[in-house]
Amino acid sequence: MQIVPVGPGFAAEVRGVTLADVVTSDAVYAEVRAAFEEHSVLAFRGQEVTDEGQLAFSRRFGPPEVTKVGSLGTGSHFITLTTIGPDGKVVPPDHRYAMRNKANQLWHTDSSFKAVPALTSILSARIIPDNGGETEFVSTRLAFERLAPALQHKLEKSFAWHDYNHSRSKIAAGLATPEERAALPAQCWRMVWRNPVNGRGALYLASHAYAVEGMEAEAGLDLIEELTEAATAPGTSYMHRWRQGDVVMWDNRATMHRGRPWPAHEARLMVRTTISGTAADGIETMRPPPRQAAE
Ligand code: OGA
Ligand code: MN
Repeated sequence: MQIVPVGPGFAAEVRGVTLADVVTSDAVYAEVRAAFEEHSVLAFRGQEVTDEGQLAFSRRFGPPEVTKVGSLGTGSHFITLTTIGPDGKVVPPDHRYAMRNKANQLWHTDSSFKAVPALTSILSARIIPDNGGETEFVSTRLAFERLAPALQHKLEKSFAWHDYNHSRSKIAAGLATPEERAALPAQCWRMVWRNPVNGRGALYLASHAYAVEGMEAEAGLDLIEELTEAATAPGTSYMHRWRQGDVVMWDNRATMHRGRPWPAHEARLMVRTTISGTAADGIETMRPPPRQAAE
């Protein structure tokens, strides 16, 4: 196995390994897991991907999420991001599927709006447009380490509120349906996630974050926006240019990502599996003290 760094201080390509190797060999899994903890984004090229193979690989890292109401794949362990409608044709740009891809083009980390946040997301490319449609990543660990120590200390003691409806409403009013809003009440998480393996802190930020506990609404949102801007500064990202057979996994605790646009008439279909965080991944350290949660 070769781990080849491909980004600015994070992100690596894993060569000489198939998804099935990770499923069948504990030693291979351990090596990939260590690379995941260190590099935050791992790309596997030239894979022969099936839904079952992707899920078996994903399960190695923890319990798979069940896809939420309102997403394509609801009730299963798969989420399909596509612009191909039920009739097999590419949907118009104002179609809900296209709007949802647009919402994914805001910097975010997956599932911060859920009661159990996600450790990792595993995304495979099934149909790729000829132009654009990359996925771009930044390290919120490196972003945290770039901040002044006084701000680092403040953020380690701060908590932010995350709401799916907040990110969706940036794209269009009503994009999150009443069912989604009812199923996904806002969640409060510490703003810094310390990796239990290497002890390094990372900003836990997302397009879903809308308020900072104990701060006036506007000031909290300003802080979230300033931190997002700092975390996504020019030159800090790894842009994954999808090829057939690519599978990319990322650490939702230590990165943000966004989809990049592509011509509206071109089809794109991606399949994601998402693994919930567990105590071993540090989720208990992220919850606010009961006093704050009760509000
Ligand atoms: C995701 C996501 C962006 C993309 O799968 O979680 O944000 O490029 N995808 O499709
Ligand atoms: Mn995402």
